[in-house]
Amino acid sequence: MGKDDEPKTYRYNETPTYTTSNGCPVMDPEASLRVGANGPLLLQDFHLIDLLAHFDRERIPERVVHAKGAGAYGEFEVTDDISDITTIDMLKGVGKKTKLITRFSTVGGEKGSADSARDPRGFSVKFYTEEGNWDWVFNNTPVFFIRDPSKFPIFIHTQKRNPQTNLKDATMFWDYLSTHQESVHQVMHLFSDRGTPYSYRHMNGYSGHTYKWIKPDGTFNYVQIHCKTDQGNKTFTNEEAGKLASDNPDWHTEDLFNAIEKGEYPSWTCYVQVLSPEQAEKFRWNIFDLTKVWPQSEVPLRRFGRFTLNKNPQNYFAEIEQAAFSPSHMVPGVEASADPVLQSRLFSYPDTHRHRLGVNYQQIPVNCPLRAFNPYQRDGSMTVNGNYGANPNYPSSFRPLIFRPVKASQEHEKWAGAAVARQIPVTDEDFVQANGLWQVLGRQSGQQDNFVNNVAGHLCNAHERVRKQTYGMFTRVNKDLGARIEKETEANVKKQSQVPARL
Ligand code: NDP
Ligand code: HEM
Repeated sequence: MGKDDEPKTYRYNETPTYTTSNGCPVMDPEASLRVGANGPLLLQDFHLIDLLAHFDRERIPERVVHAKGAGAYGEFEVTDDISDITTIDMLKGVGKKTKLITRFSTVGGEKGSADSARDPRGFSVKFYTEEGNWDWVFNNTPVFFIRDPSKFPIFIHTQKRNPQTNLKDATMFWDYLSTHQESVHQVMHLFSDRGTPYSYRHMNGYSGHTYKWIKPDGTFNYVQIHCKTDQGNKTFTNEEAGKLASDNPDWHTEDLFNAIEKGEYPSWTCYVQVLSPEQAEKFRWNIFDLTKVWPQSEVPLRRFGRFTLNKNPQNYFAEIEQAAFSPSHMVPGVEASADPVLQSRLFSYPDTHRHRLGVNYQQIPVNCPLRAFNPYQRDGSMTVNGNYGANPNYPSSFRPLIFRPVKASQEHEKWAGAAVARQIPVTDEDFVQANGLWQVLGRQSGQQDNFVNNVAGHLCNAHERVRKQTYGMFTRVNKDLGARIEKETEANVKKQSQVPARL
């Protein structure tokens, strides 16, 4: 279902007979069985009880982050030969095509929150390749707030709701960011106009993390992937985004769906940045630090493909809500790097899928690989794939299987004897690329002014002490930036006649 065929029960050219869930035809779906005209209900009314009981269980947990999203199906095509750096099956041969599904999302808001909120955007793609599903679970920013995964739940709490008031809380938000200043580069992205994209069609996607592309001989390169929108980057101003949040909170969802219905198929061109292990060792930036980019002047982008979205889902819940993306869904030729945030994500996503969708989440049609054969994983709630029938559930000498050998890589990565490290301290180096982005904004008319305005409009709601900490942080990025943010924020504070911010 979904990928090629319509669901089996969904035939538009027939008039189906309405039945109970066990297939028994029903005379009137809106009349409960009662004793006489005014008497109580009958327990034997299976239709009613079945309907109510199912309704009571309609909701599944929403994603703990990225709860609001939209998605569509499409196709990837290899545009350029990159056989010198990879043998990944999906990327073999110009013109090779692979089916896929995407899901785009905001991060912090709940499932009913506004699409235009200032937030990073999720950018997920699941490729149904011949050698398994390959998921790109990217964001629309090339960096992230943290480089130590234990900070993720803590950080996310501060971007969500205050545990007492259940309100979004500017003090909490900026208190975290100004006391964890490795976030500053991502904060610069978030408060630029790219923090409020015009639509999902008009934004880029970045792997952010470094991955390894391994060749069959065991040699490898470090890579980062960029997906650039062919529609052009387009953004809302803070004011436009704020207005849209009340006028049409589902604008991004609507825009994507309608564009595809009209045949205006959005596409993205895919590039890869490549560093050999030797280059990585000499590189100025730690390539496992998710708060840093690889400057494009030093590590150029190599184009390798394009994907186009050309089909809407038939059923949002079945195909988008139940889609389960994970950075650990990889294919031969791809491996995780030692980036600790990536390493932790390899665990976190399948873990949350088991909670959100159940242990057999890979059997849900939208998540099914083209072919999987894993008869040692058996049973469990909602087994619907035949459970591998009579196949042995252990490596039986009566049923030989092919186990594909993988050449162990890695002169370069030898961890034995390495000291256990915890925090990487924040240093001046953490502000260099943030200032780089401030300069990039300076090359585009009005972007620096918008940035200052966007921060000041939010920060003015925070407690005085937190505001001061935050001015210090932006001053470390750039003196002029710090001064401008302080001036505009304090002017906003004076204008506001609001209850004092809470500690
Ligand atoms: P470059 O001048 O080579 O690249 C700057 C890149 O910034 C552009 O290629 C573009 O990437 C992106 N960009 C342009 N306008 C904006 C904007 N308004 N908001 C956010 N990003 C924008 O410089 P460097 O590679 O040395 O990077 C300079 C800064 O640019 C970095 O500090 C980083 O924050 C930002 N950047 C860098 C990226 C990278 O991978 N090197 C990717 C994106 C941003 P794109 O075409 O992908 O939009
Ligand atoms: C969603 C955890 C960092 C991109 C999620 C979900 C969890 C999670 C639990 C919900 C998944 C679901 O219910 O299906 C984490 C942790 C992180 C982290 C623990 C760091 C320690 C990142 C980073 C990126 C990212 C760095 C991007 C580079 C996404 C996307 C989704 C998502 C795109 C939505 C997937 C979808 O559309 O279903 N994350 N995340 N996350 N995350 Fe992360």
